[in-house]
Amino acid sequence: MFKHSQLDSVKAWLAHPAHAAMPLHARIQRAIRQLILDGALGPGKPLPASRPLAASLGVSRDTIEAAYAQLHAEGFIERRVGSGSFVTDMTGFAPGHRRPRREAPLRDQAPRLSQRGAAMFHSGGVREMLVPRPFAPGVPDTRSFPLPLWERLERQVLKEVGTLALQHGDPQGAEPLRRAIADYVNLERGARATADRVLVLTSSQQAMMLCATVLLDPGERIFIEDPAYYGARRAFDAAGLESLPIRVDRQGVTVEPILSDPQRARAVFLTPSHQFPTGVTLALDRRLALIEWAARHQAWIIEDDYDSEFHYAGKPTACVQGLDPHDRTLYIGTFTKSLFPGLRIGYVVLPPPLVKPMTVARSLLDGHTASVAQLTLARFMEGGHFGAHVRAMRSVYAQRLEILTGLVRRHLSDFVAPRVPVGGLQMPCVLTCAMPEHLAIDAARRVGVELLGLSGLHAAGDGEAGFLMGFAAYTPAEMEVAVRKLASALQTVKVP
Ligand SMILES: Cc1ncc(COP(=O)(O)O)c(C=O)c1O
Repeated sequence: MFKHSQLDSVKAWLAHPAHAAMPLHARIQRAIRQLILDGALGPGKPLPASRPLAASLGVSRDTIEAAYAQLHAEGFIERRVGSGSFVTDMTGFAPGHRRPRREAPLRDQAPRLSQRGAAMFHSGGVREMLVPRPFAPGVPDTRSFPLPLWERLERQVLKEVGTLALQHGDPQGAEPLRRAIADYVNLERGARATADRVLVLTSSQQAMMLCATVLLDPGERIFIEDPAYYGARRAFDAAGLESLPIRVDRQGVTVEPILSDPQRARAVFLTPSHQFPTGVTLALDRRLALIEWAARHQAWIIEDDYDSEFHYAGKPTACVQGLDPHDRTLYIGTFTKSLFPGLRIGYVVLPPPLVKPMTVARSLLDGHTASVAQLTLARFMEGGHFGAHVRAMRSVYAQRLEILTGLVRRHLSDFVAPRVPVGGLQMPCVLTCAMPEHLAIDAARRVGVELLGLSGLHAAGDGEAGFLMGFAAYTPAEMEVAVRKLASALQTVKVP
């Protein structure tokens, strides 16, 4: 018969809720297999006869027979007529036989990662909230998305394209979508794009990772804004690049530190239309200076134009890519903010010589973006629905920004001052009292309010204290409740 501990582990397998969907005989077979793999049942060891084991486990003898038959078919046990079942001698093959039994199982130990793997892991990655609550920043309102229209367009695609839509797609992206994106960025963002320069990806995050790995080698340097978007900084860190922070002032990133030592880095990462997180716009003379710098030193400008659809005072400034006659700029766009994050479609408009290398590199990551979603989005854009949705949301968001500004001024004026942005989905607020930023954020979280601290976005972690408040995804009533909760929570914070 099995030892007590062995019998207990078989019983534990049987009773585990995670195995509830498995038939009884399969659970018993898997439990015994695990005992063999762990070395708890060594080679040549006899298995209990089916009748007493069935009695101890409270199952039928047929169930045990079925489990043994499967173990036999998989080669874990031998069945000898007249004398019973025995564990096969797999010495040299089964992992459990090569390691002392008491050693911690391998799965509990930290795996040995590559330096790059460890850098990725320790960066913490980029994980957004699954169900955002006020005031998680950067989230669009998905509750007013025209889902029935999207569904209709998707059905049209499936009907017209048929099973072709189920095959592999072009790694560069579906041609109708690339055309629609090129038309859109030329018209709305002043870009110089053609469909054959557009690479459709799953996100801007993927575009940043591709830029970091395809354009630069580990150990090379890249200028980044200070403060900077955490997703970009983490992508560059993970690729082994050295990020050189460049101060941002009211006119965007300062260019003096770049121009005074122009060969210190081979690329610059910018959010020029609406700097993340300050919200400032990069001045024209600085844009032109950076384009000149890039052309002269064969450097790259990586332009992340993540939320410029939502500009509330006139039109946003045209993008850097459209001003660059030297083709040194890679323009990154995303539908995460303008439509919905679950869509997972972003893109990059590339200088012509980079189209092939970047497309091949992406094919190694994920092949291509899902075709049905791309073709549906192309229709959504061609039919004018994208423009209409953005216009509708722009006026909703402008109103929400105004409401949040009023609420902050009314209820939080003892603590923070709002820096009202000209666009985007979030508003920076700077702490005007002596309260440490982390205490404010912790107090907010305790009452169910999400804030993203500003100082951690600075390279040295010592920037202006405050937080970002997202406003686009929350109704006026939700914002009012959350601001009131936040005000009471901040009142209770004991400033050291
Ligand atoms: C500056 C900036 N760039 C890019 C993104 C992410 O876009 P995507 O979902 O396409 O990676 C965000 C989202 O928060 C952002 O704030």
